[in-house]
Amino acid sequence: MDGNGRWAKKRLLPRNMGHRKGVETTRRAIGFFSEAGVENLTLFAFSSENWGRPQAEVSGLMELFVHSLKQNTEELHQRKIRIRFIGERRSFPEQLQSQIKESEALTRNNSKMTVNVAANYGGQWDIVSSAKKLAQQVQDGHLQADDIDVPAFSAALSMGDIADPDLFIRTGGEQRISNFLLWQCAYSELYFCDVLWPDFTEREMQKSLDEYARRQRRYGKTGEQKEEIQ
Ligand code: IPE
Ligand code: MG
Repeated sequence: MDGNGRWAKKRLLPRNMGHRKGVETTRRAIGFFSEAGVENLTLFAFSSENWGRPQAEVSGLMELFVHSLKQNTEELHQRKIRIRFIGERRSFPEQLQSQIKESEALTRNNSKMTVNVAANYGGQWDIVSSAKKLAQQVQDGHLQADDIDVPAFSAALSMGDIADPDLFIRTGGEQRISNFLLWQCAYSELYFCDVLWPDFTEREMQKSLDEYARRQRRYGKTGEQKEEIQ
């Protein structure tokens, strides 16, 4: 979800106004993709590197997270949407941590769609955490080093219980992954668009799905082989 700051700057507004507008887009994206039948939507809300931004922006974002969760959890719950957070949450203000807990607890049994909010998340952190978990199991004698394989490593990641993403969308014109889901994106279709996140309308969302539908996913096989299977 990139481009909030530039959206605000273009209008001579403070960056936090862009983030506020971005939350609106996020609400609409959750509605759109859940209606489209998407089962898991993972949103990169705050990276482990974002702490380095000006202090006013960081504290504005923390307040915005608490406020948006408070405002929207009930509606998400009514729409049968589950919300959960991935990332290292201990560094967040107390108030945000308890709001996260509350939103997760209320919606935990919902099954229409899961929204995974990546907050204080980094793809490299996720991989290191998985390695640590497995190393601990080996140290405790519950696992043999030789049994560490791709499925075991995947399962120990922060979204180890769900399938890897089919489609990766980055708005805002940048064409890089910026330490988002690194392991999980091994076979994701990458979709970059120039539209800034606050301007990412339902029409733009639909365009990303249309583009995805046109891609042929080969997983290392040839185009001819994939056509035979289909
Ligand atoms: C993304 O928008 C939102 C967060 C990282 C919280 P940016 O704030 O990165 O917007 P630009 O890239 O400065 O326009
Ligand atoms: Mg940015």
